[in-house]
Amino acid sequence: MEIRINIEEAASPDNLSDKEQQVIAAALEAATHAYAPYSKFYVGAALLLSTGELITGNNQENAAYPAGLCAERVAMFAANAKHPNSGIDILAVAAMMDGEFLEEPVYPCGSCRQSLLETENRFKKPIRILMYGKNRIHIANSIKDLLPLSFDASFLK
Ligand code: THU
Repeated sequence: MEIRINIEEAASPDNLSDKEQQVIAAALEAATHAYAPYSKFYVGAALLLSTGELITGNNQENAAYPAGLCAERVAMFAANAKHPNSGIDILAVAAMMDGEFLEEPVYPCGSCRQSLLETENRFKKPIRILMYGKNRIHIANSIKDLLPLSFDASFLK
């Protein structure tokens, strides 16, 4: 069996739509006020809802490490809490260390991928995922490309 996934690459935000550039700019801004005193890895996420609303989040760490949460889930859970009927069209994620954004794209962790899958399935709408790096941006057109052979609610029936 061979599984093929499709990842697009853009050289910079200038090559993307105005809307996508706005979502990336919001993720970059959100990263600058992450609470990451332990890892010092500052992550920002921004979501564009189907209603046009932009929601941001950043990683929130804790002295008891596992109690912290990634930027993507902070943003997504806030969006789902406040706008329970709006799907997500676009998610952008960016990370910085030592005051610099990473040169290569940052990718959502496995738990965030699982949570993104739940949201995609919930709203029956693929999420376009923009993974930012200064040198290039990687783009997936659905979380299913980042999480093949996934576990979802269909197994529980
Ligand atoms: N982190 C995120 O917020 N998103 C990712 O995509 C990768 C990892 C956070 C979790 C933790 O606060 C720090 O980065 C180091 O793992």
